[in-house]
Amino acid sequence: MATVPSTAITIPSCTGLKASFSPLKATAIKVYATPVASRLAVKASFKEFGVGVAATVASAILASNALAIEIKLGGDDGSLAFVPGNFVVASGEKITFFNNAGFPHNVLFDEDEVPSGVDVSKISMAEENLLNAKGEVYEVTLVEKGTYSFYCAPHQGAGMTGKVTVK
Ligand code: CU
Repeated sequence: MATVPSTAITIPSCTGLKASFSPLKATAIKVYATPVASRLAVKASFKEFGVGVAATVASAILASNALAIEIKLGGDDGSLAFVPGNFVVASGEKITFFNNAGFPHNVLFDEDEVPSGVDVSKISMAEENLLNAKGEVYEVTLVEKGTYSFYCAPHQGAGMTGKVTVK
């Protein structure tokens, strides 16, 4: 998939060079304009290639952002688990639960295992809500420091539980 955007970059660059076989002044302008055109072409290509590429781009952005973490719902091997199932975040860091495999899943915090004063209804999905398709996400930000336990209602019995420590 990574080769597709680079192809898109090449096309406008060639167009820019062809257009610049003219007086020197014009060439200087074209050289400046070409990178801009490439950037626009990359943006446009994301729209054209649709959801698959958009999701990949979103993951790349998340990976490069220090204040965000992505947790898979369902392991790549189809296991009914949060991956990773035990992790640490900073207070205020965005946690993105990514529906990966073995769905439907959801994310509910355990009212008996969160820092005192935390209202689990404000950080949990509604129990009847389920993520049914790959790539759906549930995002939550935890501010109160401490340890939180959470689970997936359909798969709690199968051991789909997790723990996050907010520091
Ligand atoms: Cu589940």
